[in-house]
Amino acid sequence: MAKFKIHVDQETCIGCGACTATCPDHFEMQETANGDRAREKKAETDDLACAKDAAEVCPVNAIHIKEGEKKII
Ligand code: F3S
Repeated sequence: MAKFKIHVDQETCIGCGACTATCPDHFEMQETANGDRAREKKAETDDLACAKDAAEVCPVNAIHIKEGEKKII
């Protein structure tokens, strides 16, 4: 089982695309009724650096990463 859980809060995401540009391995855009929004490609990963970089560039802090129950970002 991978170590880190990734979640994009689509209610908060404004569809700027910074996460997919920063870490395309873990994030992709999808069309929704509210416009394009990001989603995680994988719900879990061992590659924290890529996912964390994406979370840090998100202007609205829509990306959340946990290690077990502990919140990383
Ligand atoms: Fe959305 Fe933030 Fe990515 S606004 S598109 S989750 S960088």
